[in-house]
Amino acid sequence: MPDIQARSIGQLRSNQLLKDGASSMQQRNFLKIIRHSRSELEGLIELALDMKTAKAGHKLFPGKQLGLLFSSPSTRTRVSFHVAAKQLGMDAEYLGMDVLQMQNGESIKDTASVLGKYLHGLIVRSYDMTNFAQGQFDLEDLAFYANVPVINACDDTEHPCQIMADMLTLRELYGKDYHKKRIVFTWGYTSRQKTPAVTHSMIAAASTLGLNVVLTYPPGFDLSDQYQHLTNKEGSGRVEVSHDLMESCEKADVIYVRGWKSPKMSYDEDRKRRDEIRGDWCISKKHFERANPDAVFMDCMPLIREESTSADVVDGPNSIIYHQAANRLHMQKAILSYIFQASL
Ligand code: CP
Repeated sequence: MPDIQARSIGQLRSNQLLKDGASSMQQRNFLKIIRHSRSELEGLIELALDMKTAKAGHKLFPGKQLGLLFSSPSTRTRVSFHVAAKQLGMDAEYLGMDVLQMQNGESIKDTASVLGKYLHGLIVRSYDMTNFAQGQFDLEDLAFYANVPVINACDDTEHPCQIMADMLTLRELYGKDYHKKRIVFTWGYTSRQKTPAVTHSMIAAASTLGLNVVLTYPPGFDLSDQYQHLTNKEGSGRVEVSHDLMESCEKADVIYVRGWKSPKMSYDEDRKRRDEIRGDWCISKKHFERANPDAVFMDCMPLIREESTSADVVDGPNSIIYHQAANRLHMQKAILSYIFQASL
């Protein structure tokens, strides 16, 4: 009985989404937030809330076989998709690119064309820190040649599953008024150079959903043009840009920390610049003193304490990083249901 109930909840929401998305006969991918409408994104958040409330393994898609194709390490995305697939009645196999013949030079075309014959969908992480946008092109090629749905598990341009899980967290925390909250999304120092994917997805979501975001970063760490152009535009919500970390934290409800490498700088330029400003871009209690007293700290993880954020903030009472991580599972289930409902 719980399965029947879950199926009907899932169908209800997914049918709503179908009205806004591609036709049910088309291959449906989830590659970038920037390609989805407000009603689609809001539908996903509500579907994830339903999935979370039902708390059951909903065997919606028995017999579907997924491949988790990852070119770099992952704890949250990989495991949450694996568990989400199982709870939906699917099988999911991890396919590190280092154990595929791609390692020996087999092309994306051949790999995708073959995997598409065995699998019903691919969840792919692919990026190259020295060649911005190559990961995105590779995902598009995989989706084209595999001819089965492809979900972006983080490329160099977007990390849509992460930010949709974060939208679920904000929706749970603040209810339908989450749009009104002041969200400071700030660059923080990391020794490892990371893609701007999470930041791009946040800006795309903020712009589409009408959030109140202050994008704060040191001069020079601009986003790629397509996403930078979404900032400082009038609209129902607004993404302001600030280079003053302390000022931007004034009356914040959320301080979300993320380090990224700007696509506008070379690897070496970025390295030199981030090391120069390291001390100024570690978020600590002094920043939270400027924020609202119940302001929360968000970080999509992984993180290293005392790099982008002080340990007392990471482990403090206002930190919701594990709640964020937990919501990855519920949002992955919503995304999988959204993708596969279309082909039922
Ligand atoms: N936030 C995130 O994507 O974590 P993983 O790299 O562990 O998947």
